[in-house]
Amino acid sequence: MDRILIEGGIPLTGTLPISGSKNAVLPLMVAALLSDQPVTLRGTPRLADTRTLASVLRELGAEVEEFGNGPGEGMQVHAGDLSSVRAPYELVSKMRASFWVLGPLLARAHKAEVSLPGGCAIGTRPVDLYLKGLSKMGADISVEGGYVIAAAPGGLRGARIDLPFVSVGATHVLMMAATLAEGETTLTNAAMEPEIIDVGRCLQQMGAQIEGLGTRIMRITGVARLGGADHTVSRDRIEAGAYALAVAASGGSANLTGIEVAELGALLPAMRLAGVRVEANGTPELPALQVSGTSERPNATPVTTEPYPGFATDLQAPFMGLMCRADGVSRIRETIFENRFMHVQELARLGADISLEGDTAIVTGVEELHGAPVMATDLRASVTLIIAGLAARGTTIINRVYHLDRGYERIEEKLSACGARIWRETI
Ligand code: EPZ
Repeated sequence: MDRILIEGGIPLTGTLPISGSKNAVLPLMVAALLSDQPVTLRGTPRLADTRTLASVLRELGAEVEEFGNGPGEGMQVHAGDLSSVRAPYELVSKMRASFWVLGPLLARAHKAEVSLPGGCAIGTRPVDLYLKGLSKMGADISVEGGYVIAAAPGGLRGARIDLPFVSVGATHVLMMAATLAEGETTLTNAAMEPEIIDVGRCLQQMGAQIEGLGTRIMRITGVARLGGADHTVSRDRIEAGAYALAVAASGGSANLTGIEVAELGALLPAMRLAGVRVEANGTPELPALQVSGTSERPNATPVTTEPYPGFATDLQAPFMGLMCRADGVSRIRETIFENRFMHVQELARLGADISLEGDTAIVTGVEELHGAPVMATDLRASVTLIIAGLAARGTTIINRVYHLDRGYERIEEKLSACGARIWRETI
């Protein structure tokens, strides 16, 4: 098992290249199941989660090949034949996004057996919206022995689906399913996250008819079959957000390259309120964000998580990492997941002063954090401990870093290149 060690107190300076988006590449890989033609994805990140999903796709009969190394790297998914429609517990329980194969399998093969999902333990994370939506499209669905068993013998039919609240995963799955359903599907209260737009654009390239992408109402007219695509994955706005917060927490100054600054949504105003300078400074070919922190403590700043374009739940923990040393009291409210505060007790080991009141963390900033041994509890909690560790005096030892490897490509390498003293040990 690996652990990461950080000697904190060094301002990060230099350039941080942002990788392809984890939460875009995963549904893009799933979408490739909709076609018997190859789908080429460029700029894909190399992550534990993409490897897990590749195993699921291979289990279903798809060929998944990675190519290249560095900036030109990518992946081809070719689901010429679907030899199985069963996605097993052993794989699906590792990662929630693998459950999403349910949509393409039902749409293309008219049947599916998919284990109920696992993923980060940040709340109960039900799948009722997916199942209700697919039932409205004519699927017969039951849950037996921990598996969702679904069949639509004559194929899926278009339907009007009013989602009671925004769900990224349900929007991905219902959008994918509707591309091959007969007739028109209207999806209201759809998610408008940049990753939905990325997947929708790839589906359009494959021949899907989708209107209203990036709005709350989508209309999808089913087609008989979809072709292949050659698509470049968008950069990871959540990775970029975490690095922007790391630079600020260390009091450094760095350029984050590749990121579409507008996709950072509500993070930038919050960082500005905290006293961090953040400015777009790239070119159309290579957009970038310049982040300049100061040696002063940040201003205490409240945030509330919301669906995009609100403040991202995936940046709630990293933002708390910055607020630990703020001058004053910050209220950080989590409205998307009910159990996404597991980083709080680990931050306390570094000297943070945080109490919980229902869905709100009350962070009373402290003058200094001090290095300590801590444990990563989930993906975004792990990077938060890195952010706090970079800001702390002394050595922080982060155990259970396999969570981190699910979503941050070459993180020690990227931060070391900006002067951080961070390294990995295998114990
Ligand atoms: C996606 O998860 C992301 N995962 C999450 O990122 C992200 O935190 C989340 O969207 C919100 O932005 C990927 O893209 C792979 P939801 P998802 O459905 O789709 C409830 C990370 O760290 N809900 O938008 O699972 C659900 O419990 C991960 O990279 C139901 O009640 O999130 C939650 O409270 C973690 N019933 C809310 O909706 C359902 O059927 C929003 O979840 C579906 C969801």
